[in-house]
Amino acid sequence: MLPRARGAALSAALAMVAVAGSAQAQSGLDFDFYRNNVEPIFIRSRGDFLPPDPGDPACVMCHTWQSSTPLMLESLEDGADGSIFWSEEQSRINFEAVSALVTPGDPQNSRLLLAPLSAAAGGTPLHTGGKVWDSQDDPEWQTLAQWVRTASASAAAEPAASVDYEFFRACVHPVLFQVTESGLTCTNCHVAEFAQADPEESWIAVNRLIEPGHPTRSRLLMHPLHPDAGGDYVHNGVRRWRTQNDAEWQMLAAWVNGERTGTDCRR
Ligand code: HEC
Ligand code: HEC
Repeated sequence: MLPRARGAALSAALAMVAVAGSAQAQSGLDFDFYRNNVEPIFIRSRGDFLPPDPGDPACVMCHTWQSSTPLMLESLEDGADGSIFWSEEQSRINFEAVSALVTPGDPQNSRLLLAPLSAAAGGTPLHTGGKVWDSQDDPEWQTLAQWVRTASASAAAEPAASVDYEFFRACVHPVLFQVTESGLTCTNCHVAEFAQADPEESWIAVNRLIEPGHPTRSRLLMHPLHPDAGGDYVHNGVRRWRTQNDAEWQMLAAWVNGERTGTDCRR
């Protein structure tokens, strides 16, 4: 049996990972504006943890991907000259995670803008990392608001992808029964949960493990994916895919995106 209580932590873990560019396509949020104006806010030093004068440390001090908070950023790289930075690729991963914490077009309703904002100014009551913005007039807050506001809200409201049962039965269900290099199949461990022999029974359970239109938020795809490729940090089972470029992973992702239908399983 799978422990159900892990759901919240898992969704948080899933929110962080992604295929470059997909948040931009879905939400209208601008990546270049994000990289040039939003990301520096996460790195900016605001003092450190230590007495005698503890300030608020930089967001990234608490919000790397090891932290299991809703905001999981990549670990920073060290340059030869002592600088710290994120590569563009890392920024794209961060962009996905951060995008999941905002409501395009609606700064006042965006978690990213509310946690560090004082409650008196419309923020949430509590944030473990403290309140760094006293007012919505704070230039940092305004920068974030500009990023969120200019995203088209209608783009975000596009209908969810429709995930095809025929393709599941013909092409996805068999994956659960294929032996991987570890010598194990998914059904070895998950026969009672979602890898039942009967495709219809399996389909019902698998629906819980995918999020239409969002391969990288779909536990079925992310749990057995290697963590270096964005997969979940822990899976007691096997790592079936080493990268998101794996042809089988790509097939599943296209299916979750509603792009694969019918019984043609060609990769
Ligand atoms: C001292 C550590 C620390 C610092 C610094 C910090 N945070 Fe956090 N933050 C946390 C922790 C822990 C959580 C999860 C628990 C909570 O919500 O307080 C969190 C939660 C959040 C959330 C999610 C809130 C939600 O809706 O669930 C956001 C967004 C966030 N922080 C943004 C920021 C930003 C932006 C900064 C920098 C301006 C920052 N944090 C600085 C520790 C920190
Ligand atoms: C050796 C046994 C084993 C194998 C083989 C295995 N898993 Fe798992 N899997 C587990 C265990 C144990 C858990 C629960 C603990 C955890 O999350 O690691 C789990 C959890 C999961 C979850 C999370 C379920 C949930 O409700 O959140 C998914 C999805 C999953 N596995 C998919 C797969 C897929 C797909 C395969 C085949 C590619 C597979 N597993 C192969 C043991 C296995």
